[in-house]
Amino acid sequence: MNAQEALTAVPREPFVPDQIFVRDEHGWLVPLRRTDDPERWREQVAADDAIVTRTAFDPAIPRELCDATTGRGVEATSSSSAPYIMARVIDALELRPGMRVLEIGTGTGYNAAVLAHLLGPENVISIEIDEVAAQHARRALEVAGYPVQVITGNGEEGHPQGAPYDRIVATASAHTVPIAWVEQVRPAGMILVPWAPTFHPDWPLCRLIVRPGGIAEGRFVGPSPFMPLRDQPVTPRAMQEAEERWIEAGRPDCTRYGVTVTPAGQHVWLDSPGNPIAS
Ligand SMILES: C[S@@+](CC[C@H](N)C(=O)[O-])C[C@H]1O[C@@H](n2cnc3c(N)ncnc32)[C@H](O)[C@@H]1O
Repeated sequence: MNAQEALTAVPREPFVPDQIFVRDEHGWLVPLRRTDDPERWREQVAADDAIVTRTAFDPAIPRELCDATTGRGVEATSSSSAPYIMARVIDALELRPGMRVLEIGTGTGYNAAVLAHLLGPENVISIEIDEVAAQHARRALEVAGYPVQVITGNGEEGHPQGAPYDRIVATASAHTVPIAWVEQVRPAGMILVPWAPTFHPDWPLCRLIVRPGGIAEGRFVGPSPFMPLRDQPVTPRAMQEAEERWIEAGRPDCTRYGVTVTPAGQHVWLDSPGNPIAS
């Protein structure tokens, strides 16, 4: 069964909270409650787009300018990812029966349910940093018949109690691969992580294969925009500078880039590990 078939088999609706957030005519995120406008709520659930489910004030905006009622200064902190991107990421995992997966970023629990549909709930563990989101996901997974273990905590630490995993997949973007992930994946296993646009504007998906000795290496396989891990934000200025460097380099396709992670650090390279780039 491929990812698209699993997505079709698992309905999204039970995982989407009654209150979601949509952009108003000014671009601010405002609440949309299922009870207030069930038709619009269902349209959002049926669309092949991300749905914002949790928000907070953007720390970069002075607090006195923020207003939760108008959505001014509010940013997304959790979402149900766009199904077409979920399919891309799940297919890239190259899952086989019996594999054990650790997901970083449970969000609504929908992606964990799709993974559980493919592998069995006993083979999926998911970590969520937001206690409210974790609680919602745990309940939704239970009710939907996919009792995945949902851990509340910082996914950058992984979950050593369940290691080794065949796969670790992040559903939030990173620019630095935590060494804990490398340590918790078995040799020849895979770490799949959407990369923040620190060297290429497309938010490329990084596919790392773990080797003995605490090393992981691999290439980028295509665009996969995800909100960042909580402790790995990227400023608009850093994104702009990265894009300028990429243009200067002749706009290489993201598949020409790769990354090597070792206990001593990581480096992103172009074409081969011997050609590191500054980022
Ligand atoms: C795009 S959402 C995940 C979508 C989710 N997989 C789903 O199916 O709904 C990203 C999630 O990562 C969570 N997150 C961010 N930083 C995290 C961290 N360090 N550890 C665990 N979760 C984190 C956010 O709270 C958010 O819920």
